[in-house]
Amino acid sequence: MNPQEIILSDCLENALNQAIEKCPHDKLFVLTDTTTHQLCWPVVSGFSCLQQAQTIVIGATDEHKNLDALAQVWAALSNQGGSRHSLLINLGGGMITDLGGFAASTFKRGIAYINIPTTLLAMVDASVGGKTGINFNGLKNEVGVFNPASSVLLSTEFLKTLDEHNLKSGYAEMLKHGLISNTKNWAELLNFEWEQIDYNQLQNMVATSVAIKEHVVKEDPYEEGIRKALNLGHTAGHAFESLALTEGRTLLHGYAVAWGLVCELYLSVRRCGFPTKLLQQTVHFVKENYGVFTFNCKQYVDILC
Ligand code: GLY
Repeated sequence: MNPQEIILSDCLENALNQAIEKCPHDKLFVLTDTTTHQLCWPVVSGFSCLQQAQTIVIGATDEHKNLDALAQVWAALSNQGGSRHSLLINLGGGMITDLGGFAASTFKRGIAYINIPTTLLAMVDASVGGKTGINFNGLKNEVGVFNPASSVLLSTEFLKTLDEHNLKSGYAEMLKHGLISNTKNWAELLNFEWEQIDYNQLQNMVATSVAIKEHVVKEDPYEEGIRKALNLGHTAGHAFESLALTEGRTLLHGYAVAWGLVCELYLSVRRCGFPTKLLQQTVHFVKENYGVFTFNCKQYVDILC
């Protein structure tokens, strides 16, 4: 897999200029969803490097991470004169970076793309590491390819706009990275001051978290071994997400991952001798910051399926 440049920047315009210069192109496209078009496009639309860009807007939320929206992007690229030498910029959360990455990887057998993640979850996980794809046949991420963005731009401008729920959702993936890395990182994550967010500290923690993910992806880009560690908390988490979906309960991915971490660490303690203290710390932190996911014994079967 080609190496991917990750740029953490206080000045998105400079970072984007730099990233675009690395990708000579004939036409430039920016993909957003209806939410990021409204909230994030205005932040970048005045940049001189985007003056010739054509925008493509698809529906927001995971519900639109599907074949119809993908076809909409392919059609827009094709109808607006996209060629093998065009460049796509994905501006949005994980849904946009996953779907846009897949659209770019398949249009004309593959064009270059840049990710500008606008949620913490996309910054520390979805936009980094080259996993792209869509949901299909009722299954999450059922169709996709491994193909990294040319550059991923992590901007503090977007970090500061996120509400607490979205920050905490992304933070769950950072907890996951903390659990699979080192005690110093884990301690910093547990002690983060949520009452008064220090964005400089958070930005440094994002950088550390992304570096942990990059290290794992470099070792095992196609998830044949150690990269599976990045799925910690996700098997149980996806079961909670599925249950929430069938019941019409709103549930952010990271919250499901946080509860999934508790379940999977419990199994690790019982089956593999994982330290009880780490489980207790996780339970305490997750309960305090994410609350609890409620279900009853009649739903065990749904969760297990
Ligand atoms: N989100 C897990 C991975 O990128 O492997």
